[in-house]
Amino acid sequence: MKKKIAILPGDGIGPEIMEETVKVINAVSGYSSIEPEFEYADIGAVAIDRTGDPFPEKTYDICMKADTILFGAIGDPKYDNDPSAKVRPEQGLLRMRKSLGLFANIRPVSPYASLLDSSPLKNDIVEGADFVVVRELTGGMYFGEPRGRNEMGDKAFDTCVYSKYEIMRVAEIAFEYARRRKGKVTLVDKANVLATSRLWRETVKELHAGKYRDVELDFLYVDNAAMKMVSDPRFFDVILTENMFGDILSDVSGVINGSIGLLPSASLGESRSLFEPIHGSFPQGAGKNIANPVATILSAAMMYEDAFGAAAEGRVIREACADAVNSGVCTPDIFPGSSYGTKEVGDYIAGRIHERCKNAL
Ligand code: IPM
Ligand code: MN
Repeated sequence: MKKKIAILPGDGIGPEIMEETVKVINAVSGYSSIEPEFEYADIGAVAIDRTGDPFPEKTYDICMKADTILFGAIGDPKYDNDPSAKVRPEQGLLRMRKSLGLFANIRPVSPYASLLDSSPLKNDIVEGADFVVVRELTGGMYFGEPRGRNEMGDKAFDTCVYSKYEIMRVAEIAFEYARRRKGKVTLVDKANVLATSRLWRETVKELHAGKYRDVELDFLYVDNAAMKMVSDPRFFDVILTENMFGDILSDVSGVINGSIGLLPSASLGESRSLFEPIHGSFPQGAGKNIANPVATILSAAMMYEDAFGAAAEGRVIREACADAVNSGVCTPDIFPGSSYGTKEVGDYIAGRIHERCKNAL
């Protein structure tokens, strides 16, 4: 079965980690009925340099025609310290999420036993943590209008807006995940202060009472949730939250895993899906063969499972990544001074897939 995958490497380390991910997909496809066809497209600073637009029409078309999308990273320091820049690479990512309707971002977190020492947190806190952040991705402060400056330019404003419909559709996804996991959803909000958070609570309670009474539902304010995540991460199963809170909390969850370079994500919409690591473009690391490709490779595992319904392929990629981690074949973000680079880790994982697939798939 042919499957078209749009490949959007993006900026910084994006192209390097994507090369290793494509290597791994090619390794899997030797043993799978899924035949991947890759189509590359520009996004982010690279796209601005080539076309003036961080998410060009052509990239949108390629995404729409593809069965699914793999995305690397976005962001370039030449825009970071220039508040007057008219176009920014990040706008490309946000427009892509919005125009493809990718409203739910799924970020699973479960530390590898062999890496417990890589977390700055104590082993007995991190051990056994296993949760997923379900982050709303196309609403809230990231997109609300009005936004901008007053005429004088001495006041700036962003607006947080949510409709019941937007909350409902992402909450459904969180409850469904919980049913397949440990059966608990924690809604993270700031209902003691924000009107949008109060609508989230009301809506999620209503949905829970109507359809998901078998799932346990509790609530935490976001400040408290951030503390709980680093002091008692085993408390969580499925964290449901709005766009900005989810962005912040999912970076915090990188501390639990030992490196943000290990965390994949799936962005799901009604008709499309996209898979991306949660980390950024790490421009200081670009071209040095030091970036950790595992988060993107694990995103490809999620792609097989969620977009193609191919559980065996997803599992073997995951197992091959665990082989790398458990044998110490890791980039320096995990083991400082490690002599394994991006390419070596990708080669090792592809090699493990060949070994494992001879019998498995
Ligand atoms: C992420 C990133 C993006 C976000 C940036 C690059 C716009 O941090 O995917 O978490 O804030 O959503
Ligand atoms: Mn982020």
